[in-house]
Amino acid sequence: MPTSQPEAPLAVEMIGISKSFPGVQALDGVTFGVRRGEVHALLGENGAGKSTLMKILAGAQPADSGEIHLGGKPVRIQSPLDAQRLGISVIYQEFNLVPALSVAENIFLGREPTGAAGVMRWKQLFQDAEQVLARVGVPLEVRTPVDRLSVAHQQIVEIAKALSTNASVLVMDEPSSALTDRELERLFELIRGLKATGVSVVYISHRLEEIFEIADRVTVLRDGQHVQTADVTGATRADLIRWMVGREVDETATLPAKEIGAPTLTVDSLCAGVLRDITFHLNRGEVVGLTGLVGAGRTELARALFGADPVESGRVALAGEDVRVSSPQDAVRIGIGLVPEDRKLQGLVLGMNVRENSTLSSLAKFCTFGFVRGCEERSETQRLVDALSIRTPSIEQTVQNLSGGNQQKVVLAKWLLSECRLLMFDEPTRGVDVGAKAEIHQLIRDLADRGVAILMISSELPEVLKISDRILVMHEGRLAATLDRKEATQERIMHFATGGE
Ligand SMILES: Nc1ncnc2c1ncn2[C@@H]1O[C@H](COP(=O)(O)OP(=O)(O)OP(=O)(O)O)[C@@H](O)[C@H]1O
Ligand SMILES: [Mg+2]
Repeated sequence: MPTSQPEAPLAVEMIGISKSFPGVQALDGVTFGVRRGEVHALLGENGAGKSTLMKILAGAQPADSGEIHLGGKPVRIQSPLDAQRLGISVIYQEFNLVPALSVAENIFLGREPTGAAGVMRWKQLFQDAEQVLARVGVPLEVRTPVDRLSVAHQQIVEIAKALSTNASVLVMDEPSSALTDRELERLFELIRGLKATGVSVVYISHRLEEIFEIADRVTVLRDGQHVQTADVTGATRADLIRWMVGREVDETATLPAKEIGAPTLTVDSLCAGVLRDITFHLNRGEVVGLTGLVGAGRTELARALFGADPVESGRVALAGEDVRVSSPQDAVRIGIGLVPEDRKLQGLVLGMNVRENSTLSSLAKFCTFGFVRGCEERSETQRLVDALSIRTPSIEQTVQNLSGGNQQKVVLAKWLLSECRLLMFDEPTRGVDVGAKAEIHQLIRDLADRGVAILMISSELPEVLKISDRILVMHEGRLAATLDRKEATQERIMHFATGGE
């Protein structure tokens, strides 16, 4: 149970902050105060202005107007260095790591220990890095270049980097989206420890369960405006959702299949990497949930079917015909799509605009003799931007400028436009707000109703139970169970996911 400290003075206060970008009022007179030693959750839909507010606090972006007070006194924060000197540290939603540099160099970037004549003291650097990582509880090899690390471990490096500055105000912008449950538990322990020493933490996440577990107070933004600040203990999940979305969202409704047809995909005794003897099928019009603990082999299964990883043995058939998928190009050609988990790296071209990204993999559909039929391309993209409520001033906006969650929705749009017979989603709603989540679920169901077979990997059991017609549970590279929607419960799924018979 988080304890709030009503008496504690404000460590930071942002007063009347406004910020606009061409075509977007990102923040409109927002006031936000964080007490000493509290964990303050910052909530809001994708594009509500959370990251922008924190970038202003961190000196990464200038505000158009407003003031920042630190310990009761006005301060000017005009650069990240200013913020660092004032004891403010930020873990960004988009990682800020230098891919080719080692873990240790990234943690202490610009603050490396140097000896006489500025020579780097490598031994010291590595030791210091090991110490910080020990605090985080994840002993990474400090000499590894960060581009060789998994997304989760890159996230750990970001956290270590922020901790190493010994900040008194620590901002975490969706730190949990890439972490496993164990790593998340460790992060929460760390946050509680920091809190006890008087550090103030701003915590941003779309997973409401986390807010109740770790935060003392919560502030909600909507469309760049302050909506509510409240004690977490007095608030319910429904309150948070209503403040964020401005209406009730029914999270319990299920979305059953309209009509289930013949098998689209048949997999027989598939072995690949950690995968052992996987046998299952997916029918036309069906949504099948694929769940299990992190590391059970769910992503590996999707990658093997997509031709991204080699298959050792077994049979794969599409609509009754045996197929060999030896590359993602093969997969796309025969109508298999994969919306990857790691969207920043695999899903988007950040420098291109929303329209270009959306139609990237389905251009052929909009081409006559090699010419893109621009008007159709635009109207289809606009339709999806509306359906997914992607917050963007126009479909010509560069994807780089969208909020994190809205970038994710663009990746979904890209695959929703492509004409696949089989579409696999890996954690499709990670980092997406509750309202948009419900919309994405409906879109996935609509696709299935149009005859696409769908495999949806998700760690969120409520989501799996909501839209799956059947549920596959994996455990240590094997299929542990196939459950019908009617017989599935969270408890049964967890039973099989943890190795139960
Ligand atoms: N550099 C930029 N150029 C143009 N528009 C921007 C820029 N940065 C942010 N925006 C816009 O400002 C608004 C707020 O974005 P912000 O990133 O703060 O949202 P967020 O609340 O963090 O959302 P998410 O939950 O998706 O991360 C969005 O509409 C976004 O598109
Ligand atoms: Mg954000």
